Amino acid sequence: MSEKTSRISGFYKLPLEERLKIVAEFAELTEEETMLLKKVGNLDLSTAERMIENVVGTMTYPFAVAVNFLINGKDRLIPMVIEEPSVVAAASNAAKWARAKGGIFTSSTGPIMIGQIQLTSVRDPWNVKLKILEHKNELVRIANEQDPTLVSLGGGVKDIEVRVIDTLKGPMVITHIIVDVRDAMGANAVNTMAEAIAPYIEDVSGGKVLLRIISNLADRRLVRARTVIDKNEIGGEDVVDRIVDAWAFASADPYRAATHNKGIMNGIIAVALATAQDHRAIEAGAHAYASRSGKYSPLTVWEKNSEGDLVGSLEMPMAVGLVGGAVKTHPVARIALKILGVKTADELGEIMGAVGLIQNLAALKALATEGIQRGHMKLHARNIAIMAGATPDIIDMAVERMVQEGRVRFDRAKEIVEELKKMKS
Ligand code: MEV
Repeated sequence: MSEKTSRISGFYKLPLEERLKIVAEFAELTEEETMLLKKVGNLDLSTAERMIENVVGTMTYPFAVAVNFLINGKDRLIPMVIEEPSVVAAASNAAKWARAKGGIFTSSTGPIMIGQIQLTSVRDPWNVKLKILEHKNELVRIANEQDPTLVSLGGGVKDIEVRVIDTLKGPMVITHIIVDVRDAMGANAVNTMAEAIAPYIEDVSGGKVLLRIISNLADRRLVRARTVIDKNEIGGEDVVDRIVDAWAFASADPYRAATHNKGIMNGIIAVALATAQDHRAIEAGAHAYASRSGKYSPLTVWEKNSEGDLVGSLEMPMAVGLVGGAVKTHPVARIALKILGVKTADELGEIMGAVGLIQNLAALKALATEGIQRGHMKLHARNIAIMAGATPDIIDMAVERMVQEGRVRFDRAKEIVEELKKMKS
């Protein structure tokens, strides 16, 4: 029997049926599995094929809505797409605690992205830096010519900055274009502009341009979210102190900070997926920003105020868009945006920041009190009870029994469900 190979030339040119056949043979997929891959949910195959290459099917994730969010005085339902249990429930629960003191308040710096142009082979980098800056107006003009629509909407290049950096290959001169990308995520606009001005930079500097690409450390496109949590909503001042101590741990220790920030990203990426954002860009920006002091740190701060209430704040980059890319092509993303009711990318980014802050609160409260497993166990027990045949009238009782006994298992669920059913009848 010949060895399987993944080296398949021209795979992208084959019709979808053919591609799927190859994959099915390669992975020995059953007829049922093949059919399932082909089964269309809410993304039809022709749209999928326009989005990426080599498509053989689509994959459906749960689409949920977190409730109870009050952001800047406005009630919002939060669409979330995620595979992890508990995240949506936790967000909804913690958003409820925030309501007593007015909910979450947000702001942002505006949709400013950075494009980088790398110049190598320069002997006099400091001199070259000033030469480039002398041509700032011309550079701005060339860049803005690339996107008249963006400029007509009030966007476009707002400034040019030049940095000299030391590298293992000697000094390099890095030009930054500072671009207002309005309601776009910005990668396309910024990359086009960076490529357009690169030859001009070569001309004025005599150096060699290498990379021309957006920076995902979007530290000019920050969102901010803050909230006050009434101590009585979360079990009193002792719990407030515990949460502040949990935050202090993250702030002192990168091993903990990584997990702390992961909890924040649970909420943010779930909204990013529901609204078809470039979530890798958001992750990259978040973690680079968390490291900006040289030490990886939490993206939130939790403090206690003079009333003994818990006060939380978050600040992080958020490169999201409402125009272009999958946001436009994915029909479910359009619906998610409609559910959110956002009109601008800034608004979307701020809501995502609010969700991150609340998700973080939910995790810290659980961790600093009963631990994370109890809540997880309850959800797990619920699923198992349903699988074991529990009807709606006995689900809660079955869950309670399993959790109390510490035996969240299918065999035990079956016994309990049978007992409860007998009792009921
Ligand atoms: C799990 O997905 C997220 C948490 O680990 C976050 C945290 O530890 O803060 C619970």
